Amino acid sequence: MLLHNTANVCHSVCVTQQSSHGACPFAGGTRRPDEPYPGREALRAAGPVVVTEAPAGGPVAVVTTAALARAVLGDPRIVKDTALAPPDWEPRAAGLEPAAADALSLTTAEGEAHAALRRAHAPMLSPRRMRARQPLMRDTARELLAGLGDAADLTADFTTRYPLTVVGDLLGLPRTMIDDAVDACRRMFGDAADGAAAMGAFARLGAAALQHDGLARELRGRLPASVTDDEVHYLLFALIFAGQLTTDIALGFLLARVLVARDGAQRSSTRTGGPPADMPALVDDVLRRDPPAPFTLWRFTTEEVELAGVVLAPRTPVLVDLAGLADDPGAAAGSGLAFGAGPHVCAGIHLARAELAAAVEVLVADFPHARLAVPAADLRRVDPGGVEGSRLAALPVHGLRPRE
Ligand code: HEM
Repeated sequence: MLLHNTANVCHSVCVTQQSSHGACPFAGGTRRPDEPYPGREALRAAGPVVVTEAPAGGPVAVVTTAALARAVLGDPRIVKDTALAPPDWEPRAAGLEPAAADALSLTTAEGEAHAALRRAHAPMLSPRRMRARQPLMRDTARELLAGLGDAADLTADFTTRYPLTVVGDLLGLPRTMIDDAVDACRRMFGDAADGAAAMGAFARLGAAALQHDGLARELRGRLPASVTDDEVHYLLFALIFAGQLTTDIALGFLLARVLVARDGAQRSSTRTGGPPADMPALVDDVLRRDPPAPFTLWRFTTEEVELAGVVLAPRTPVLVDLAGLADDPGAAAGSGLAFGAGPHVCAGIHLARAELAAAVEVLVADFPHARLAVPAADLRRVDPGGVEGSRLAALPVHGLRPRE
């Protein structure tokens, strides 16, 4: 799942082939956090559907408006089964999961098989249950931040570990295995051997969670007995990795937003106090401006499909440019399309919102002395390129001691 490792491929595409609209939406690089994604404005200007060169080769149709994105994400002729991907795409380099027939997965199943999987997951990740877990999430954030010492890089030491600890506690994973989860998630971005080792580690994490009380067992109990243990491990892997990958990135931008505001308030001698007045709005705004998934996952047309006057052949790869929609006046209020839409809308949306808000509340209320250790102007974000999300290179802080 989400085996995005396209940076090198994309780079070679972008330097050797200029796209028809004049900019490559899959380019990597380093930029200031408030600088827009390179190439996105030109892409939107080129129309609601732009056919360009995919990082793994061949054409990809990129959807650039919110209205068309919603239609595409609900269109049963545009599906996620990677069996329809171009046969010459190398799965790992292209960021492809196994085909739906080869691995039971929320992200590649369609129709009734997908709906049944969603029904099995939904009660575990409901808004009510996630809200009820928020005090525990706050305790986790407090404990992890307090354990870092006075100075730390929050992207290296907190933003990966915190969502993994939260989801691990939910699933029933022993805390002693969180280091393994951190290591496995990081290895997903390594070479093929790292990827294979990571998948082995995720299977062990899933098996361990099933030994304890928690949502992993609850999910097992909701699935038909015909679903094998290996298949359950893969479903648990999806929850662990999809949750870490995205929340990690979002947390970096969210904490940076709060710390930059705190620096500004200090310079202008205004009081910094409790959490921002409207925490859900702050979380949604950060997600809308900096969607952790810059594109949706791969989709493919099952037949000839016309989108905004552009005719796509069967099996054409399709992406929605989520990052480019930040300024689309047609995008929904709140987080916009950061969590996707339609049947495959993020299964962890309520968990993500609850854990992001909990972490910021704790930083603001319980660590009043925490400050950026570098000028805000020195913060940088790294775009790995391809369809991967960009994250802060570092978020160094000092004064990270709890309120006495
Ligand atoms: C800020 C955090 C998050 C963001 C921005 C985010 C974003 C997304 C997006 C855009 C999709 C849809 C992809 C597509 O349709 O192509 C998605 C799907 C998914 N997300 Fe999240 N996600 C976040 C957190 C989480 C968490 C915490 C979990 C763990 C429970 C999670 C689990 C999933 C799963 C399992 C899917 C597949 C759903 C399906 O295909 O039916 N996500 N997410």
